[in-house]
Amino acid sequence: MDKLLVHGNGSLKGAINISGSKNASLPILAATLLSNEPSIVRRVPDVSDTNYMLQILRALGAEVERSSGTVRVEPADISPEAPYDLVRKMRASICVMGPLLARVGRAKISLPGGCVIGDRPVDLHLKAMQGLGARIEMEGGDIMLSAPEGLLGSEIDMRGKHGPTVLGTDNLMMAAVLAKGTTVIDSAASEPEVVDLADFLVKMGARIKGAGTRRIVIEGVEELKGVEHTIIPDRIEAGTFMVAGAMAGQGVTLRRVCRRHLEAATEKLEEAGHVVTFNETGTEVAISPGETPRGCDITTAPYPGFPTDMQAQFTAMFATTPGISVVEDTIFPQRFMHCSEMKRMGADIRVDGGRALVRGVQRLSAAPVMASDLRASAALVLAALKAAGTTEINRLYHIDRGYEHIDDKLLQLGGQVERVPA
Ligand code: EPZ
Repeated sequence: MDKLLVHGNGSLKGAINISGSKNASLPILAATLLSNEPSIVRRVPDVSDTNYMLQILRALGAEVERSSGTVRVEPADISPEAPYDLVRKMRASICVMGPLLARVGRAKISLPGGCVIGDRPVDLHLKAMQGLGARIEMEGGDIMLSAPEGLLGSEIDMRGKHGPTVLGTDNLMMAAVLAKGTTVIDSAASEPEVVDLADFLVKMGARIKGAGTRRIVIEGVEELKGVEHTIIPDRIEAGTFMVAGAMAGQGVTLRRVCRRHLEAATEKLEEAGHVVTFNETGTEVAISPGETPRGCDITTAPYPGFPTDMQAQFTAMFATTPGISVVEDTIFPQRFMHCSEMKRMGADIRVDGGRALVRGVQRLSAAPVMASDLRASAALVLAALKAAGTTEINRLYHIDRGYEHIDDKLLQLGGQVERVPA
């Protein structure tokens, strides 16, 4: 298990390329199972989560080749059983459920466990499959789904107590494209990654309208073909490096971004007094720290609101921003593991219910800290950039799940970081 040494007080400068989106890659790789023809997916980031998905596709019988960011999947013969030992490693494996049910008529998926950001229920995923006529049994921690007569389209409301579900919407869309008749998804998630999946499915021959809105209408078709597709940029990786540029930068430029996907993070960085400048096409963004940064309040919300996947990173920035900031997570109210670690570094943060109250301090100080979930770990790296001394971040595998070569990118920007074996 590696750890990352981050020497604080340096500054970041220069330009890096943002990788393809992890959260678009996972459902799109699962969607390749919907055809018996090969598909090619480009700009798949080399992170543990996408590698787990490739292992799952292989275990299901698909032939998979990866050469750098390009993945070729040949799903001619598919078995319906996703292997427990792989599925338990990544909750997002749940998104093979819809494609397996649609393609093979049945699926066996182990119930994903919870994780540090909170209980991760799948009730909405099961409601969706039942809504299309699937039969569901639970046995020994596995979900057994079957639809021997095929799936039948219907109108299904996918809203949960915390709002829409991203992977739930994905699963329903992927099952409905081969169902008989029309499916209407109400309270659908509208994240860019859901739209990228819909674009991929339409290329395969699916008939989908309304992706990116709360109401998606799908006309089932008989079969789908193999296609080529390039994954959208990772807006959360981009947002993370935008915060790095605001906290510790002297002119950081990110290439291969999509301005439209970064509006919420951009607005908050500007409200906090930082300078964000996009190029004309919105594919590059330059960030500079403001003269007088100030704290502000954040409440996460489903897209296009402020992303829950960005609140830990902003909390790291607020830890050394003058003033008081309140960060509330309405989607994962327990997602504050990073706060206790930042307090070890001298941050003044009080977590109360689903919110953190941050009072900016002059300086953080280096300390050995423990990574916990993907975005909390990235937030610790950001905090370490502003800490006096060398911070040691343990359990780096949490970051490697979703950030492609984060240390290389920070080094490219002049960051003084070092990956060492633990
Ligand atoms: C996706 O997870 C992302 N992961 C998460 O990013 C992200 O935090 C989340 O969406 C919210 O934006 C991927 O896309 C692979 P949800 P997902 O279903 O789809 C509740 C990262 O850091 N819910 O949209 O699993 C759930 O508990 C990861 O890259 C139910 O109640 O999240 C949560 O409160 C972390 N029942 C809310 O809905 C269900 O059946 C939103 O969760 C499903 C979800």
